[in-house]
Amino acid sequence: MFGHLYLMILLHAASASVFSNLPGLDRFCSLSDNVIQCNIHVVNFLDFRDIRKLLSDLSGTTVVILNITCGDVGQLRLPWPMKSRNINELWVDGCHVHGFHEFDSSMSDVPDRMVKLKLQNSVIESSVFDTLSIFSKESFDCGQQTLSALVMQNISYELILEPKDITSLESKGVIMDAGDVLLPNKEPSTKMCNYKDLEKIDISNSIDGMTYFILPLQNSEFPKLTLF
Ligand SMILES: *[C@@H]1O[C@H](CO)[C@@H](O)[C@H](O)[C@H]1NC(C)=O
Ligand SMILES: *[C@@H]1O[C@H](CO)[C@@H](O)[C@H](O)[C@H]1NC(C)=O
Repeated sequence: MFGHLYLMILLHAASASVFSNLPGLDRFCSLSDNVIQCNIHVVNFLDFRDIRKLLSDLSGTTVVILNITCGDVGQLRLPWPMKSRNINELWVDGCHVHGFHEFDSSMSDVPDRMVKLKLQNSVIESSVFDTLSIFSKESFDCGQQTLSALVMQNISYELILEPKDITSLESKGVIMDAGDVLLPNKEPSTKMCNYKDLEKIDISNSIDGMTYFILPLQNSEFPKLTLF
């Protein structure tokens, strides 16, 4: 709700610029050397999907870097996959991230060109049910397969277990073992993803279980990966 309010305010500040067909973008985007850099500071709440939709009307050839930072209480909704028709780089710093494993099936047919995804100093909150179910979906989306760098520095996770999650998990036959580790009772049916350009994965200063949360990477191929 606040995300929409925030955008409305930006949209009312129209002026002529390279973004003249997209009034409002010039409030937070600037063009330099054929690169459009958009810096958004989230005060309340922002849904990444709203910004992605706005930026999808930019002409297709310009490189777009989207830099989202959050204040102390800034909340960002960022559902998988984050791929985008024309965002080349997505940087997120200092945000409380929601809905990370809320699968957004509307992106499945969208051509992708994201080359860098960098999340830093953020907390990723995800429902247990979303986290387990996203990877067992037949229609799982490999996401940003055009990435050359995935950076997740100083990220921590909060798994949220809601009453509705417990009911859903029981109906799916998910078991909880003695170590409080939640396990699906079958192997994820994730199809193999091929991150053919991925050269660098950096998960420094993040918790050990990290790779579990970027699990699509587990059944995948990385022919160019040199730094992990
Ligand atoms: C990202 O945006 C924030 C605030 O909007 C700004 O302070 C910061 O300098 C930007 N980062 C870069 C690398 O431009
Ligand atoms: C790591 O991220 C947290 C927010 O999740 C932040 O409070 C802390 O300052 C960060 N640590 C470093 C070393 O930047």
